[in-house]
Amino acid sequence: MDARSVIDACLQHTLFSWSARDKVKPLPVERAQGVYMYGPDGQRWLDFNSQLMSVNIGHSHPRVVQAMKDAADGLLYAFPGAATQARADLATRLADLCPGDLNTFFFTLGGAEANENAIKLARQSTGRFKILSRYRSYHGATNATMQLTGDPRRWANEPGAPGFVRVMDPRPYHYSFGRDDEEITENNLRYLEEVIMYEGPHTIAAMFIETVTGTNGILPPPRGYLQGLRALLDRYGILLVCDEVMAGWGRTGKLFAFQHGDILPDILTMAKGLTSSYVPLGAVAVRDHVARHFDQNVFYGGLTYNAHPFAMNVAMACLDVLLEEGMIENAAKMEGVMRQEMGRLQARHPSVKEGRCIGLFGMVDLQRDRKGKEMAPYNGSHPVMAEFNKYLLDNGLFTMVHWGSFMCNPPLCITEEQLREGFAIIDRGLEITDRVVEG
Ligand SMILES: Cc1ncc(COP(=O)(O)O)c(C=O)c1O
Repeated sequence: MDARSVIDACLQHTLFSWSARDKVKPLPVERAQGVYMYGPDGQRWLDFNSQLMSVNIGHSHPRVVQAMKDAADGLLYAFPGAATQARADLATRLADLCPGDLNTFFFTLGGAEANENAIKLARQSTGRFKILSRYRSYHGATNATMQLTGDPRRWANEPGAPGFVRVMDPRPYHYSFGRDDEEITENNLRYLEEVIMYEGPHTIAAMFIETVTGTNGILPPPRGYLQGLRALLDRYGILLVCDEVMAGWGRTGKLFAFQHGDILPDILTMAKGLTSSYVPLGAVAVRDHVARHFDQNVFYGGLTYNAHPFAMNVAMACLDVLLEEGMIENAAKMEGVMRQEMGRLQARHPSVKEGRCIGLFGMVDLQRDRKGKEMAPYNGSHPVMAEFNKYLLDNGLFTMVHWGSFMCNPPLCITEEQLREGFAIIDRGLEITDRVVEG
């Protein structure tokens, strides 16, 4: 099939996520290697979003490709009740890698299922049913995780089941300019404690957070928030669930983002970077005190593809590469380069409002005037953002352009030179957005 026929067949016979069929313009991707993706007509794009913030080790890593070929000669499937070498190897490795007593794992197919099962584990182990989460969040597209999700993707999936209570973020959409981290943290936690009081602490099983908010803004928590939240939830026996589907596995320059705050969640969810998305796999990790509940009590949860041996083997190979090739250290090191490049963009372009990053997890917000009015409103768009996106693609850079912002989340193997190459393309593209800045 030629490129046009591929696009047409995909459009005719498949639905694309979060898109209307007549409006979606799929990118024809033929192959990918390292930090680059290639199209059928000789196009090459620097992947500045690791596809869906998920290909952490870069594309088609030869060591993993070989491990996948080897794994194909072994056990390809076993029912969830089986004890397999691959399941034993990965679970033991994860127990070793995850901090503290996060020692027990339930394997899923991806992030939403990890969160879905984290809800079950929290409810069943505490005997409580309410779940708290935050508005600026995305936790997945299954029924329950849509109710956890605060962002507008939830709306069309309402009404959901009862028992989900969403609260304000420590960094709301309209930033508390002029306030320092201590004040923001203190105010937010005081408000949260009041919500807990009104809802009844004895009814709340857990609070879910994205340790660093992902799609809703790449927002690291304000100083003191993670420690304060941990202490507050402990006072009421409410479990803390860190959703690190996007922020985990080195993205922020540490293995897990909660390690920046020196806390330990009761439950940790992961996916994406666990296999760098080479195959679908997610996991829920629980601490010993949660796991112990299921010594005598049945865990009411199950999946046909639970602990899939092929996926377990691929995860092992991906973790070898991530850890042995120093990619987490590279993410921490490249943060300085990204910060410098973002600062340079802000100095040069009136349309750049602010850039933020932690590790290789970054975003730049654009503005419509010099006083900081967003280029696009919450859940909205501006025609210039589509024009800017087209420029990036036409000039060799793929990323996610979201509302009035764009993402900077390349694979963790990116070199300084490649990172600067990406920002040079963005720099030229921003001349388009500068033109619409008023005042
Ligand atoms: C923080 C977070 N949680 C959960 C999910 C859902 O993961 P999946 O798409 O694998 O179901 C995502 C996906 O982007 C995510 O970013």
